[in-house]
Amino acid sequence: MTGKLYIVGVGPGHHDHMTFRAKQVIEESDTIVGYETYVNLVEDLIDGKEVHRYAMTQEVERAHQCIELAQSGKIVSLVSSGDPGIYGMAGLIYEILADQGWDRDTGLYVEIVPGVSSLNSCAALVGSPLMTDFAVVSMSDLLVPWDIIIKRVEAAAQGDFVIVIYNPASKKRIHQLQDTRKILLKYRTPNTPVAIVKGAFRESQEIVLTDLENMEKHQDKLGMITTVIVGNSSTFKYKDMMINPRGYTSKYNIAEPQQTRK
Ligand SMILES: C[S@@+](CC[C@H](N)C(=O)[O-])C[C@H]1O[C@@H](n2cnc3c(N)ncnc32)[C@H](O)[C@@H]1O
Repeated sequence: MTGKLYIVGVGPGHHDHMTFRAKQVIEESDTIVGYETYVNLVEDLIDGKEVHRYAMTQEVERAHQCIELAQSGKIVSLVSSGDPGIYGMAGLIYEILADQGWDRDTGLYVEIVPGVSSLNSCAALVGSPLMTDFAVVSMSDLLVPWDIIIKRVEAAAQGDFVIVIYNPASKKRIHQLQDTRKILLKYRTPNTPVAIVKGAFRESQEIVLTDLENMEKHQDKLGMITTVIVGNSSTFKYKDMMINPRGYTSKYNIAEPQQTRK
């Protein structure tokens, strides 16, 4: 019997935003592995399957178990929220396989099923913040040293990138977003729009549109399922939305259809 390993992104949380392929491979799988809250997101799709739920910080053990289960002939779905290739489990699986000398053509069948990441889902909820170049930074310094993260924040701020911030804070990690805000204020005005999106497309969804000056008033919205989007020098607020202009106004009169600016 030939096993398979699917590394599946299930999107932000609601099945409407899960891909057809994600549902298809979960259905095909006999074994489901994942961090408990991610497995909960697909609870209604996994009835009768062998399910392995993990607590946080057991990633290495989880990755090894998935590979071993698939190598023993199981069809395994390792489920991740959002996209598994963005701060997900895809990297660790490939690192372990590479260490084992795995060959894509002759070895274990491995497929990454992409999902809608937090950057897409959160952007969609607050308007069009990612129309031009943007950078993505995670505030988690568990695996990446803080001095490297801060260097990346500084570069993105200096480069006028819109910035998407994953893992902005946890109960123990408070200073990271505060330090980041201070760096951003060196390069951006205090009224730069900031969106704080908690639990996108989940029942608990909460959205705050604020700015760099006032974002610290919304600490209560920060947590394990919050993403923060910071605008660049062109981003503007419109009602309860954040819009990053694509640049059409420099070339066209957008008030009229199809008129090029003289
Ligand atoms: C370990 S990362 C996983 C990212 C995931 N692979 C993705 O592509 O979205 C966890 C972070 O993703 C973000 N996140 C996950 N689900 C979210 C949701 N429903 N709404 C907002 N942010 C979310 C938060 O920033 C959270 O701290």
